Amino acid sequence: MIKRKGHFIRLDTINTSLVLRADTAEYLYYGPKLVSATELSSLPGVNRKIFSQPGTNDYTEPSVLLENADGGFATNFQWARTRIVLEKPEIMGLPSSYGEGKTLELKYVDPSTRVQLLLYYSLFDDCDVIAVSAKLVNGARKDIHVRRLMSLQLDLYGADYELVTFEGAWARERQKRARVLTSGIFYNDSKCGASSHARNPFVMAENASGVYAFNLVYSGNHKEICECDGANRTRVLVGINDFMFDWKLAPGEEFAAPEAVMCYAPSEDQVSLRMHAFVSEHIVRGKWKKRERPVLVNNWEGTYFDFDEEKLLAIASKAKAVGAELFVLDDGWFGKRQDDTCSLGDWYDNIAKTGGGLASLAEKIRALGLSFGIWVEPEMISEDSDLYRSHPNYAMKVPGRQPTRLRNQLMLNMADEKVQNYVVRAICDVIARSGAEYVKWDFNRTMTDCFGKGIAVGEYFHRYMLGYYRVVSKITKRFPFVLFEGCAGGGGRLDLGNLCYFPQYWTSDDTDARERIAIQDGTSYAYPQTVMGAHVSASPNHQTGDTTPLNSRFHVACGGVLGYELDLTKLSQAELHSIAEQVAFYKENRKLLQFGDYYRLYDRNVNGFMIVSKDRNSAIAMVALLEHHPADPTMSVRFKGLNPGAVYEVCVRGQDGSVSLGGDVLANTPIPLEGLFDYAQRQANSGCIFTRLFLFKKQKNA
Ligand code: DGJ
Repeated sequence: MIKRKGHFIRLDTINTSLVLRADTAEYLYYGPKLVSATELSSLPGVNRKIFSQPGTNDYTEPSVLLENADGGFATNFQWARTRIVLEKPEIMGLPSSYGEGKTLELKYVDPSTRVQLLLYYSLFDDCDVIAVSAKLVNGARKDIHVRRLMSLQLDLYGADYELVTFEGAWARERQKRARVLTSGIFYNDSKCGASSHARNPFVMAENASGVYAFNLVYSGNHKEICECDGANRTRVLVGINDFMFDWKLAPGEEFAAPEAVMCYAPSEDQVSLRMHAFVSEHIVRGKWKKRERPVLVNNWEGTYFDFDEEKLLAIASKAKAVGAELFVLDDGWFGKRQDDTCSLGDWYDNIAKTGGGLASLAEKIRALGLSFGIWVEPEMISEDSDLYRSHPNYAMKVPGRQPTRLRNQLMLNMADEKVQNYVVRAICDVIARSGAEYVKWDFNRTMTDCFGKGIAVGEYFHRYMLGYYRVVSKITKRFPFVLFEGCAGGGGRLDLGNLCYFPQYWTSDDTDARERIAIQDGTSYAYPQTVMGAHVSASPNHQTGDTTPLNSRFHVACGGVLGYELDLTKLSQAELHSIAEQVAFYKENRKLLQFGDYYRLYDRNVNGFMIVSKDRNSAIAMVALLEHHPADPTMSVRFKGLNPGAVYEVCVRGQDGSVSLGGDVLANTPIPLEGLFDYAQRQANSGCIFTRLFLFKKQKNA
């Protein structure tokens, strides 16, 4: 709800309030919902601004930086208008959140240039996240250059925040990192043309008063700045990275920054629940939004590039036998591709590897009773490809320079409309001729040789993103029933921008269960389990060489959308039987596992997750022992999210017996674990992780 009294505006979500003063462009309050009858005008302002600009005596990092026609940088935006709009405005060319709610629009004008700055705050009736964006309109008579336009500025009171980020690398995405920020400036950013494996745009600033969380609905270069200044103020800025950024704005033109989101909650668990609800309701869209996701079998780690039709069909028939629902043909089915040195861009069938081509292979897969899914990497081009031979100018390259090759490939210049149209045609054709029900959209390298003829260098990164979004938007609209899963050499572009098109995302190329616990744990802070692809792969694991029991691999994968990614034809009957049991268990509990409330469980030597049904009548918790300490009586866990007044029957998957315990006991008493994990088995398998799935069913209320 948005209430306005003169220049004072109060925005209430279910559990939070934000109070602004429009004329002075100040935040007066952001935190737990205000319940008293305090007059908004009595709230003490302590110079916490909603935007900032050079040319004033605010020397903290600015949110807006323009190069004026006169060569100066100063602006002096003054309040001009406040409006409350009922329909959430779309952001031209960019993905953004959607849904019922209201938007506050604040307009400021720089009197000497007539440039306008518009700020938007959108609320939804059913969630605690506020979407914020910014736009510039050039009302001047001459060109101006936008050198920075951050989407969101929040000035927090105090300089004692711990800043939490989610960092890593390929196969090590979104590891939680924290540091206390009492002075100086901290950047969390990406300059590689993708939201990146290295630093996700999701960040949190926490202190005793609670947790402020931020994210950006964008898949390219981003920057989150946190500055503690001398005024006992911590400024948080979120937006497009201004690295190599210089956007020319002609008279009358607009520049829209992507949407950012912010959320306040008293704890990290609450932030995650609020962010998850927002992503599930207001970011993910289309037919798959609320649909249970199929259990898939993907051939990548099973075969890599070495497959033919016979091998694929053999894996697919085992997939059907264990109860999987979808078979996904990964990289290597097109052109003359036998390894990663060629054929990207040649999206026509390799007959030798697919039998009679994609259409006939897909038919044979369907005849087995499975849906068919296909892998593509649309934004790339191999130099050894027919596409490159006929259109070398489609590649992203700086004239006269040797391009940087990553994974032996170049990128397409997606900033060029001709190239975008080619990609739309080629990929629509793949989907149409195979009738694919699922598409995995991969992106295996980052940007280096940013150049496009006729495109200003300072505009390139963002023009690429606009081109990319135009393409994914056209393709996903053309095939509304297809389930798209995004991928970027694992989870290198898992962000809110992509989730507007792809209801699922491949979380990481690291499928080792122990490693996945940390990766999925980090991912879960901002993103719900419904979007996280999680596969059971072979043991020893291909990335780490570590051995993990089959059930532990499965239990960890239950924390995301389940798949199997190994050569099922190489497994014993006993292993196939176990997998069939796993798939049956997963399907039986799929609604809870994919759409329940997700909590992280931590204790000494123990890490896990717990998923609780919305009505809190049932729950499943995965608990993993990370190290081996024989006869360790202190291994224990407290469970979360249950109804404290209800009594639950608690049992362990695969073990006989159950106990009845109250939700209050399960939450507040450390439940000892030692007896549950077979000591002899652990001794014989040192180095492995062992897991248990706990099942909770409500028996009675208090
Ligand atoms: C990277 C992906 O993350 C993998 O799952 C696989 O699809 C390979 N690319 C194929 O090249």
